[in-house]
Amino acid sequence: MIPTHVAFIMDGNGRWASARGMKRNEGHRAGTENIRGIIRHSKNLGIKYLTFYAFSAENFSRPVEEVGFLMKLIPEFFNREIVELTQEGARIQIIGDISQFAKPIQMVLRQAEKLTRQNDTIILNFALAYGGRQEIVQAVNRLIESGKKQVTEQDFSDALYTGGMPDPDLIIRTSGEQRVSNFLLYQSAYSEFYFTPVYWPDFSVDEYDKALADYHSRKRRFGGLDADENH
Ligand code: FPP
Repeated sequence: MIPTHVAFIMDGNGRWASARGMKRNEGHRAGTENIRGIIRHSKNLGIKYLTFYAFSAENFSRPVEEVGFLMKLIPEFFNREIVELTQEGARIQIIGDISQFAKPIQMVLRQAEKLTRQNDTIILNFALAYGGRQEIVQAVNRLIESGKKQVTEQDFSDALYTGGMPDPDLIIRTSGEQRVSNFLLYQSAYSEFYFTPVYWPDFSVDEYDKALADYHSRKRRFGGLDADENH
């Protein structure tokens, strides 16, 4: 089975660069370059939703020079890729609290969303200034503001940044770390996880296919039993 929604924790850019005697920022650049091929392959396979963890709420605490570099890389990526992504029918959505970004960056991101909002071949979520707990707390505040006295799971999931989208079927984390790191905390309740030691810039289409094959071999039960186990 091909998953509907795949999410990526793109980890290991810094170590990829260090292993080559390069600066960490070169790893971020290589990591950014890697995104395009993953999007194209997903689209060819008919995967409908992708989510990329590109900058966590906690990443602001990295050295000023590294944050500054990422703040250049992020708008550069959208400015460069927007034409091709639009042609490919990709819709871009930003999840996270980007009010923490400088105004010109916010404008680039909002513009990318606006220019692609009619597209529906593949939906691309970019998690920026994103934190799962922050997302849950803002959902609670939204619901309080809406005046609701009681909420359903559906109301709650609609109030998340990912409202209206299916939960991730598969979450891939590169670079050998086996943590959730505040990513899609509510939405990952029944997600399958795939961990690989490969650093994100080296996470090729072949590596992606391995992850998808592994996913295919799993039995998803969502807490229930398989039909053949029910005896
Ligand atoms: C983790 O590698 C990666 C990040 C903190 C940022 C991920 C960002 C990109 C791939 C590029 C920017 C994205 C877009 C959409 C333009 P790390 O620095 O934690 O690596 P390390 O664990 O080896 O130090």
